[in-house]
Amino acid sequence: MNIIGSAYKVCIFGSSHGPFIGGSVQGCPHGEKISTTAIQIEMDRRAPGKGPVSTPRSERDRVEIVSGLHEGRATGAPIVGLVKNRDCDSSAYDAFRRVPRPGHADYPALVKYGGNNDHRGGGQFSGRMTAGLVFAGAVARQVLERRKVRVLAQTIQVGKVRLEKLVPFSAAEKLTRTNAVCCADRAVAEQMKDEIVKAHEEKDSVGGIVRCTVLGVPVGVGEPFFGSIESSLSAMMFSIPGVKGVEFGAGFASGALRGSENNDPFIIRNKKIVTKSNNAGGILGGLSTGMPIEFKVAFKPTSSIAKPQMSVDIEAKKPIELVVSGRHDPCIVPRAVPVVENSAAAVMLDLMLQGGFI
Ligand SMILES: Cc1cc2nc3c(=O)[nH]c(=O)nc-3n(C[C@H](O)[C@H](O)[C@H](O)COP(=O)(O)O)c2cc1C
Repeated sequence: MNIIGSAYKVCIFGSSHGPFIGGSVQGCPHGEKISTTAIQIEMDRRAPGKGPVSTPRSERDRVEIVSGLHEGRATGAPIVGLVKNRDCDSSAYDAFRRVPRPGHADYPALVKYGGNNDHRGGGQFSGRMTAGLVFAGAVARQVLERRKVRVLAQTIQVGKVRLEKLVPFSAAEKLTRTNAVCCADRAVAEQMKDEIVKAHEEKDSVGGIVRCTVLGVPVGVGEPFFGSIESSLSAMMFSIPGVKGVEFGAGFASGALRGSENNDPFIIRNKKIVTKSNNAGGILGGLSTGMPIEFKVAFKPTSSIAKPQMSVDIEAKKPIELVVSGRHDPCIVPRAVPVVENSAAAVMLDLMLQGGFI
């Protein structure tokens, strides 16, 4: 199923080494001004080729919008963006049909589709599919920003390097765009970069954690049960390849707290009802409380590594050592930051449209 959302429906299509990848959205309110430059800026943030922290595959990810916009405004028709795949080298991938990569989708996809799936570059299991998600979110965030809803994702952990002190939203918004790992602290960003380079030099990879904050969401957004904010955002986040964990607010740590520690007391600040703390991550009963929506997304280390690892030869039914060649991200996290940010925007627009907030 390549479609997600209800009032703002997102569809992604294509495959890593096919002619195109892209995204389409339905439900963007007609008449909304949509800047193609702003969309391209988001696409560029996700594109590969940013020095030693990402794959050397050189793709400009220039998006061509073929439907849904006229004279800079949404027409009400589906908005469709296409990105041509240019720098494809599929030579390494045939081998993975016989000897599947540990940690990648080769084996279950081969069994499920009986070999009919486009396996080149990981096909539809490639991180490249997320260009369509960024496209959909880059449209959504423009509608949200006009209503003062802002989304920010940032890298807070790479391997063992962690950002301990959070930077305020507006400063972080600027700082995350000044370095290749999308961290809001320059010194920590350097350490994260070193961690990625070191893993790569050792023919290995590292994982990490992205934190996402949504500001300005009015009270009451969310459609329980199954359209709660948590269920909707986590369905989107868990669809991003490489994601192995999502937690809201205090998350798993709340399991060790008492109610008296975990509850966020209501207070009046500047004549507004807010909470003193935000262990709930801005969500109660699946509805927004008006506090910042806060969640974290854990990415596993990239599975395609050049270090020898054991797999099996499916035809010979024998164990075999595998060295993965090809061009891979030594860490998914930096390129996943704009994916988390924009796809979260798509979800929040969907929920706000469903609830009649827009
Ligand atoms: C932006 C992005 C880039 C990625 N780049 C790679 C890569 O270069 N090599 C790789 O093996 N996996 C990469 N992945 C992850 C795989 O697509 C993913 O691990 C695979 O589809 C298996 O799915 P799973 O990890 O969710 O189980 C990337 C993911 C994202 C979001």
